[in-house]
Amino acid sequence: MPRKNSIFGALIQIVTMQNNFISVSDLSKEDILSLLKDAAKFEANPNQRLLEGKVVATLFFEPSTRTRLSFETAANRLGARVIGFSDPNATSTSKGETLKDTIKMVSNYADVIVMRHYLEGAARYASEVTDVPIINAGDGANQHPSQTMLDLYSIWKTQGTLENIDITMVGDLKYGRTVHSLVQALSFFHPKFHFIAPDLLRMPLGYRDFCVRHNLEYDEQERFDEEAINRTDILYMTRIQRERFSDLREYEQVKNVYCLHKAMLDNAKPNLRVLHPLPRVNEIAYDVDESEKAYYFQQAQNGLYTREAIICRMLNIQL
Ligand code: CP
Repeated sequence: MPRKNSIFGALIQIVTMQNNFISVSDLSKEDILSLLKDAAKFEANPNQRLLEGKVVATLFFEPSTRTRLSFETAANRLGARVIGFSDPNATSTSKGETLKDTIKMVSNYADVIVMRHYLEGAARYASEVTDVPIINAGDGANQHPSQTMLDLYSIWKTQGTLENIDITMVGDLKYGRTVHSLVQALSFFHPKFHFIAPDLLRMPLGYRDFCVRHNLEYDEQERFDEEAINRTDILYMTRIQRERFSDLREYEQVKNVYCLHKAMLDNAKPNLRVLHPLPRVNEIAYDVDESEKAYYFQQAQNGLYTREAIICRMLNIQL
């Protein structure tokens, strides 16, 4: 359909472009707050037949537990049907079909596409080859915007506000896409950041520059200790992303660099909560699970409500 050749077509194109969920940098403060409000409505009532007759495709070119299953649960609880794959080797990708052709094919079948891909920029590229809304479920080490929505929702629920949060991000700040998206999203809310990482895994320069440009307070250190924990509201632990290292000797150097134990939380602020996008490997000891400050499993549950909100927003479904 020659959409770009008419004013009507151009308008449709603009609307369609706005209906992608690719990067936090595409969102305004109002977008974020209104999605969080919708998520709260879905938490109160997760089962609503708002997507009857719709088809949601989940294309996962990289492994996932939470993101894929929570998107699929969100679609199911809203009455949509789900198609897709979690193993690209079982698709024609393994015969050499390109991402462009895969997206164009799936666009023939689905009303919205949720995609995780190992290449940075893959979701943006997908959105440029189809008019079907694309939701980025993680692109390489770049962005994980739907994770950010559930992170924000978790912060809001546990702290009662998103404003003036003191947040400490610990671990793999170089390859961890969730921290990249979260820094951008919190920039609307006057945060104070502490970045704790080994030198090899520092927060990338682009995000440190982002903080400077937006007058966001941040500091960096390598040491992870109780002093760092006791000053903060949110302790955001991350996994060292083995799959992103090109030199596994470097991974071996840093793989067990930090581990949070329950005793380290003894003198933390009463409102402190431990978040982690999960999966964890060694960075949170199992005894932390017994602490009232551990919030990572509820955080993952919040993914259901925020992803219900995101899918509905992409399909222009009014709540
Ligand atoms: N947090 C997250 O993205 O988890 P999965 O890799 O299991 O989807």
